[in-house]
Amino acid sequence: MSGALERVVVRAPGKINLSLHVGGVDGRGYHALATVFQAVDLYETVTATRADEMSLEITSEVPGEVPLDGTNLALRAAELLRTECGVREAAALHVRKQVPVAGGMAGGSADAAAVLVALDRLWGLGLGAEALRTLGARLGADVPFSMLGHTALGRGNGADLTTVLTHGEWTWLLAVPGGHLSTPEVFRRFDELVLAGGRVPPERPEIDERQLQALSGGNLELLADTLHNDLQAAAFALHPRLEEVVEAAERLGAIGAIVSGSGPTVAALVEDEAAARTIAAGLTEGGLVESCLIARGSAPGASVLEES
Ligand code: C5P
Repeated sequence: MSGALERVVVRAPGKINLSLHVGGVDGRGYHALATVFQAVDLYETVTATRADEMSLEITSEVPGEVPLDGTNLALRAAELLRTECGVREAAALHVRKQVPVAGGMAGGSADAAAVLVALDRLWGLGLGAEALRTLGARLGADVPFSMLGHTALGRGNGADLTTVLTHGEWTWLLAVPGGHLSTPEVFRRFDELVLAGGRVPPERPEIDERQLQALSGGNLELLADTLHNDLQAAAFALHPRLEEVVEAAERLGAIGAIVSGSGPTVAALVEDEAAARTIAAGLTEGGLVESCLIARGSAPGASVLEES
C-alpha cells in the first residue's frame, strides 16, 4: 500500500498505582514520586481520521462528564503535536472510553497517549516512542506510562520510567464510588496533612523493594501486603465514603485494597474473577459504589490496532 494514511486506530491503557510514595515539591510545584504503575486492560481507543479541521467526539462506556473544549487532554495532545512539528493538517478524533473518568486511573492521560501515537502515524511524522514520551510528559505526568504500559517504576514526577519484571497476571476489582477528586486538590491536602503532622517529606522517596519481589515472583499475598498510597489519607479526607469502600472491599474478601493514584477509584486485589464478582455484588448492594469493573494487569502500552 502506498500514500498517506486516512485513518489510524490506537488504544492506550488506564493504570493503577500499586505503590505511591510522595516526597517534597520541586520548583514547578510537582511532588517527587516513587511509584509502581500497573497498566490494566481497560482501554481508551482513539480513532484519528484526516479532516479539514480538528474535532473531538467521545463515546463513553463509563459514567462521568468529560470536557469537549480546549482543556480536553486529547485535543491538547493534538495541538502540541501540531505546534511542535509545524503540522498544518487536522484530524477528527473519536475517543471510546473504558477507563473511569477522573478516577485516579489516568484515563485522560491515556487519551493523550493514544492521540500522540495515532497522529504521529496519520501525519507521517515518524517521531518514534522516545520523542513521543518526552512530548507526552509535557501534557501530564502519567502520559508516558500509558505509552509504555505493563508494570513500571516511576520516579521524578512519575514520568521517569523503568519497566519492572512481573510473573503472571493480576486480577483487580475496580470500585468506582461516585464523586470526583481533583488531583491538584488531593496533593494540596497531602501537603496540609504533612505540615499538620510536623513531618518532612523525603527529598527522594523510595519504593518498597518487597513489592518488586512480589511482582517478579507472582506472590499475591506479598503484593497485597505492600500496596501503599501516601495520597490515601488525603483522598479519604476529601471523599466522605472512600475509607468505607476500602474497608468493605477487604471485609468482603479482597486480598488487599487501595485508593488508586489520587482516587477515588479503589483497586482491590482479588484471587480470581469469581471473587471479584462476589465483592462487587457486596459493594453494590451496600450502596457504597456507583459501579464496579473487573480488570487484569499488566496490559500493554499504547498500540496501533488498525490503519488504512
Ligand atoms: O501531571 P498531571 O496533570 O496529572 O498533574 C496534575 C496536578 O497534580 C499538577 O498540576 C500538580 O498540582 C499535581 N501533581 C503533583 N506532583 C506530581 C504529579 C501531579 O503535585 N508528581
